[in-house]
Amino acid sequence: QQRPRVFSGIQPTGGIHIGNYLGAIRNWVRQQDDYDNVFCIVDLHAMTIPYDPADLRARNLELASVLLAAGIDPARSILFIQSDVREHTELAWILGTLATYGELRRMTQFKEKSKGSERVGAGILFYPVLQAADILLYDAALVPVGEDQKQHIELTRDVAIRFNNTFGETFVVPDADIKEAGARIMSLQDPTKKMSKSDPDPNSRIELRDSPDVIRRKIRRAVTDSGTEIRFDEEGKPAISNLLTIYHLFSDIPIPELEERYVGKGYGTFKQDLAEVIVEHLAPLQQRLDELSAQPAEVVRILHEGAARAREIAAAKMERVRDVTGL
Ligand code: ADP
Ligand code: NA
Repeated sequence: QQRPRVFSGIQPTGGIHIGNYLGAIRNWVRQQDDYDNVFCIVDLHAMTIPYDPADLRARNLELASVLLAAGIDPARSILFIQSDVREHTELAWILGTLATYGELRRMTQFKEKSKGSERVGAGILFYPVLQAADILLYDAALVPVGEDQKQHIELTRDVAIRFNNTFGETFVVPDADIKEAGARIMSLQDPTKKMSKSDPDPNSRIELRDSPDVIRRKIRRAVTDSGTEIRFDEEGKPAISNLLTIYHLFSDIPIPELEERYVGKGYGTFKQDLAEVIVEHLAPLQQRLDELSAQPAEVVRILHEGAARAREIAAAKMERVRDVTGL
């Protein structure tokens, strides 16, 4: 019984927060037995905006360490850095000869990032072609993405079908796996915005590397709603509802049970307990993260091993591609 292959591309960003963890990373960790996962840290995509080379390398390593500390298991899943497998750029060029300028220009993400400017980098335009190459190299059946990436997977499908029709069956045509609007963790300072690393206020998020004291302080300072009741009501009590969601996701205690537990108790007690729940549940992850950070060579070794396994699959696919395209 073969597990369906799933390709996940992850931008190498620092400052991973509990929104990323509860909304994405933790689910990847839990699905490792159900799927044949390829986790790719997409540094070539990250190059499409100005960056500092040393910082990019550090972010690659940091994200890999976080994923490993969270439980991505290199024995069950492939974890590697995109630029370590050169087939990605090679296939991107070939797929780029099949994609049209019109369809790339019409991508919502391109329109948003370019804002109609002639000075926008061509890499921003070409971004979804590289993404298509990432996915098609591995015969991925499923690509878990948010609603905003659906269009890029549509393009991947179109290009794969175009290639197959032109040169013969070569690529699996993947499906987007759009998760139901799952747990969306909101900012601790403004529950109408999602928790995000791009929020300028560091008190709006809890990062996975935050110390217990920082976590306690941020939860203490989290905004609350009027009234005193601990009740889940996203309309009337968005801040408390967000804190209840975080409490529930870390502790596995159902929200109605939490509501019951805090009847007649104020926000203070609730927040104190919540902080301890977060501290306690992040502790093992943080300990592994510290261990991995103390031995970057081990993380690099795991990434190189992942790249070797990825390359084996990608090289076989590229051999076929070169063969049918006359290269
Ligand atoms: P950020 O908004 O911090 O830049 P990304 O856009 O890089 O986060 O998202 C990385 C992953 O984490 C995606 O799978 C995204 O759906 C998930 N994610 C990001 N923020 C949240 C959040 N506040 N709640 C739940 N999931 C989130
Ligand atoms: Na983002």
